[in-house]
Amino acid sequence: MERLDKILVSQGVGSRKEVQKIIRSKRVSVDSKLVTKPEFKLDAELSEVTLDGQTLNTKKHIYIMLNKPSGFVSATEDNLSRTVIELVPDELYRRGLFPAGRLDKDTEGLMIITDDGDFAHRLTSPKNHVWKTYLAELDKTPTDEDVKAFEKGIILEDGTSLLPAELEIVSDKTARVRIREGKFHQVKKMFAARSMRVMYLRREKIGGLVLDSNLTKGSCRELTNTEKEAIFVVK
Ligand code: URA
Repeated sequence: MERLDKILVSQGVGSRKEVQKIIRSKRVSVDSKLVTKPEFKLDAELSEVTLDGQTLNTKKHIYIMLNKPSGFVSATEDNLSRTVIELVPDELYRRGLFPAGRLDKDTEGLMIITDDGDFAHRLTSPKNHVWKTYLAELDKTPTDEDVKAFEKGIILEDGTSLLPAELEIVSDKTARVRIREGKFHQVKKMFAARSMRVMYLRREKIGGLVLDSNLTKGSCRELTNTEKEAIFVVK
């Protein structure tokens, strides 16, 4: 349980003094009840706090699903290119946001943006083996031999041995790939090792979390708690 004034200060509503004045002037409600005492205590994760009728995000951390379009880099800052952070709308934006894991500039699809370092570490750490699913359009149709090679574990052109992965032929020149590591350009390099070129790549899933098909390219929304948990539960 935390003090209401402290929560509002941490959400950037104002200084301690300003926030106390705002609360006393009857502009803040907690779970639809007007609260005029700055020292009022609540659980920031569970209660709904409104200021002038607008809901504030009082949660300690935020977890955002982005449908990443091509042309944006997975970084917080970049001198030349636009970053995925620039796609976060004002109502979800906070200081300290960063992409949890990287997609290449030309890769599209599911990306998580958060301000929770521990969560991002769990998601990206090779030790945790969170499966990532990609849809790849290729210059050739893979063969059953390619499927077997993925299953066995590809050895990249530079000699790096990869963990066993899954390759599913979806249709002519289109395949679905499941990997549980996140090496630089991994999917492209895996296909290169089998003499194929990736023409288009989209991430569809992280663990059991599926990209929301209603989310247009470049749009974001907050993850639900169930979605957050799905990442670590299912493939
Ligand atoms: N593998 C790649 O080659 N690129 C990505 O963006 C993600 C996985």
